[in-house]
Amino acid sequence: MKATALAPANIAFIKYWGKKDDALRIPMNASVSMNLSEAYSVTTVEFSDTFNHDDVAFIEGELSSKEIERIIKHIDRIRKMARFDKRVKVRTKNTFPKSTGIASSASGFAALTLAGAASAGLSFSEKEISILARTGSGSACRSIPDGFVQWNAGSTSEESFAYSLCPPNWWDIRDILVIIENTEKKVSSAKGMEFAATSPCFQARLAAIPERISRMKKALKNKDMSLMGSVLEEDCLDMHHVMQTQNPPLYYWNDTTIKIMHAVENWRKNGLAVYFTIDAGPNVHLICEAKDEGQVLEKAKMLQGIQWVLVNKPAQGAHLIETHLF
Ligand code: PMV
Repeated sequence: MKATALAPANIAFIKYWGKKDDALRIPMNASVSMNLSEAYSVTTVEFSDTFNHDDVAFIEGELSSKEIERIIKHIDRIRKMARFDKRVKVRTKNTFPKSTGIASSASGFAALTLAGAASAGLSFSEKEISILARTGSGSACRSIPDGFVQWNAGSTSEESFAYSLCPPNWWDIRDILVIIENTEKKVSSAKGMEFAATSPCFQARLAAIPERISRMKKALKNKDMSLMGSVLEEDCLDMHHVMQTQNPPLYYWNDTTIKIMHAVENWRKNGLAVYFTIDAGPNVHLICEAKDEGQVLEKAKMLQGIQWVLVNKPAQGAHLIETHLF
């Protein structure tokens, strides 16, 4: 059977950095994120006895042999659960360039997991799909549930899954994603976070997270942008502080990133309620309420050194769709 899934990328407001278990991708800390409406992957999977080899490709772009290997490894997990050895055909496309610090592995592995499980005839709960997606790419587990999502670290694989805190229409906020460059990043987040514990700041980060998550949940509950913004900037800077003090250190920002961070501070001083967050790449996500979208967008487009801007609303999680890619 052929199945196609659409899965959003997500932006973490409280970020995941560091694993308890590298193979199972069990994180050291819980995280909170929002699904992105305009940055998503669509993936079609078909298992069939008539195929004589695995055929995995990206539509409009290349997949490296490493990426194909990681996808096949995930397909093998699905084959094992389905207890068959059928070969597979996979086609996937993104609405944004991959490996630029937009979580392409999150949307990609979430879509691959949902379409793969459906194509294999596995009827899994949302929790089971989230767990399986996590083993492909950690943050992919957060792209399964709807809207605003929490991923509890857990101590075992069964305990480490994501669930929805609020549906996408709970709060009309924006993630105005400023894309600075679309060259592929040098060190993947998966690789980078293997060294998280070498940072002298890592333990302090872990100790601070539970209270930070409580504040984030309070901000969500009360739709309080100034609280949400201050917590998400605090957590972004804390994660990058750990990255930059790891051994070897990791610098994902470039000059334009830093200029935008300063610009945001100035815009805020002038009364515009906008906040920044940055993942494992130079791009900056500008978070604000819907009413401020126009003003933030106008200012963002005037920034020097940017390529394009993508305006995201909170979105539904991964779901099956009827339009197949082949
Ligand atoms: O699951 P990965 O390998 O895409 O790691 C994601 C890491 C960050 O984007 C930096 C933080 C996060 O929680 O999304």
